[in-house]
Amino acid sequence: MKKLVLRSILIVRPIKYLLLSLILSTVFMLGLSASNTDKQFTFPHWKNLHKLNTETFKSGSHRAWVDIYVNELAKKAYIQKLNLFPVGSIVLKPIYSDQERSETSKLTIMIKMKKGYDPDNADWWYGVYDESGMEVWYQGKIKSCIKCHARAKETDYMFSESVMYTINEWE
Ligand code: HEC
Repeated sequence: MKKLVLRSILIVRPIKYLLLSLILSTVFMLGLSASNTDKQFTFPHWKNLHKLNTETFKSGSHRAWVDIYVNELAKKAYIQKLNLFPVGSIVLKPIYSDQERSETSKLTIMIKMKKGYDPDNADWWYGVYDESGMEVWYQGKIKSCIKCHARAKETDYMFSESVMYTINEWE
């Protein structure tokens, strides 16, 4: 009797482990394929992008201070508050804890992807990175970002209207 119980434990255990490892590897593979479709970007030279403002300004949505950086592709569309940004546009908003930029708490970034990336939401990629621009905290079609940025549909999900108003008022 004892022998039989022992034997069944010996058989059941490996099956359990096999199942567990199967489940884990499936989860892992799904995770990998998700990050393959949402390309991973890095932004080591983000400070070389064009900064639209000189002084930091208070963010409308966070209790924080921000700058707005754009690449060459995004510059005109942002300043002129156009309703369509060219593919490859990068807009980056570092968030600081104070007006003097003593500490960068994170970088929030948007990239205009090719048509079809996220057709229901104007094909923007969203990212949240650390100060170095190298460490990804969140990236891809981030729902919470999309939901709020959809309020600015007339200017292609960019809050260029209010940002340019703030910048022009100050400078
Ligand atoms: C509750 C609304 C809200 C949410 C959620 C939100 N944003 Fe924004 N975002 C804004 C507003 C308003 C601005 C204009 C600048 C400001 O006031 O901070 C902005 C500006 C930006 C900009 C500069 C381009 C622009 O639209 O003017 C980037 C890049 C950005 N957000 C990225 C993100 C990312 C990435 C997320 C998700 C992690 C996110 N945002 C979530 C409201 C939001």
